[in-house]
Amino acid sequence: MPCSTQRVTVLRRNHHFSFQGNRPETRYGWLKLTPAHSVTLIKELLAGLPPGDSLVLDPFCGTGTTALACAEEGIPCETTDINPFLVWLAQTKTYPFSRAEIELFMTAASDIAAELSRPGSTSSAWKPSLYQIEKWWDASYLEVLARLFEAIQSRSKLLPRASLDLLHLAFCRTLMAHSRAGPGHQSLSFRPAPTGYYAASLFEDTPCAEVLATWQQATQSLAAAAYSPIKVIPRCILGDARALRSSLGQERYTLVLTSPPYPNRISYIRELRPYMYWLGYLKNGREAGELDWLAIGGTWGSATSQLNRWEPPPSLTIPFDDFPTLLARIADKSQILSKYVHKYFCDMYLHVQEIKQVLRSSGKIYYIIGNAKFYDVMIPVETIFAAMLGSQGFCEIEITTLRKRSSKKELFEYVISARKP
Ligand SMILES: C[S@@+](CC[C@H](N)C(=O)[O-])C[C@H]1O[C@@H](n2cnc3c(N)ncnc32)[C@H](O)[C@@H]1O
Repeated sequence: MPCSTQRVTVLRRNHHFSFQGNRPETRYGWLKLTPAHSVTLIKELLAGLPPGDSLVLDPFCGTGTTALACAEEGIPCETTDINPFLVWLAQTKTYPFSRAEIELFMTAASDIAAELSRPGSTSSAWKPSLYQIEKWWDASYLEVLARLFEAIQSRSKLLPRASLDLLHLAFCRTLMAHSRAGPGHQSLSFRPAPTGYYAASLFEDTPCAEVLATWQQATQSLAAAAYSPIKVIPRCILGDARALRSSLGQERYTLVLTSPPYPNRISYIRELRPYMYWLGYLKNGREAGELDWLAIGGTWGSATSQLNRWEPPPSLTIPFDDFPTLLARIADKSQILSKYVHKYFCDMYLHVQEIKQVLRSSGKIYYIIGNAKFYDVMIPVETIFAAMLGSQGFCEIEITTLRKRSSKKELFEYVISARKP
């Protein structure tokens, strides 16, 4: 149904926003990563779908919240992410594990624990070449974690893929429980290394006992949730949200439900690095920088020097009148940050043009996104998204304020919705 007018309604409502559904004992909380969005909200938006014939797309999969909610509700869903580790995580979280696969996982987990508690060999096990790894883990814990990983890997050819995936997830949980890193929203902080009494070799068995206690807790919690039913298996695909047509085909989806990278986030790879290095998704800093450069809003490592060289495509103008002024005001303080914001919106605009091609006529879009402030320059991200959708011919455009994001009074999270005519 064609629509001639584009309406932008700003609703101020106090959404009942909660992360209750993302608890660690459910599949949603299998690995706590900061980008995850609220299951409560996703299920509420899915509830508005007409029955039958629906196909949902989440082009920015992240930890797979949309895919898992659809899988549990029996709604067919496809999801893409540029990061192969996140695609693996979403696949694992949405897999319908059989009883046999879970039992094999639990038996292997307790065999591994028994193996580790026996007096070990003195030769040191493989560790990834994560930059300044000693900042992430104290040497004694690192050695136990490396032995734990070696024990998992030694079973890789003996176990079904699904059981091995659960072992790897349990390893990831154990890994972070003993890390000195405290993941914050945009930054990581590290606790200082222990000294004196606690570092003394007198206590050298403590790390092993502690790591094994975490391992046992993680494996039991994962096994309990792995029995929870999956009604439809989603397709989790490695792909670029700026080039969806080639991998997904045209006009297939009835609903897009996603939370794209936030402009103030500046690198998703930063806090994912420990998992990605251990599980073999990254081998060195060069690979980390290259992957972050592919991601929208990435600035990790060499991505920053690539950004310095970046020039906006001449044919791409962001359809928001104040955009050049906003960029100029940021550039007064920092040229590179201004380029970062410019590139972020160019990438998102390419994505919006692409999403129009893969969505069916009458299909609906929901973007969950936050606004951002660089120095004293407020970026009305939600209004720019609405303008980009409008310029691509979408109608029924609405901006709904969801919640305040932080203690800063002007930072909010929004849902932007629109329909393809
Ligand atoms: C805000 S997070 C999504 C969070 C997700 N809703 C959840 O609940 O976990 C944004 C995601 O976009 C991904 N991403 C960044 N650039 C991308 C691109 N060009 N194509 C596909 N995914 C991309 C990032 O890897 C990140 O996982």
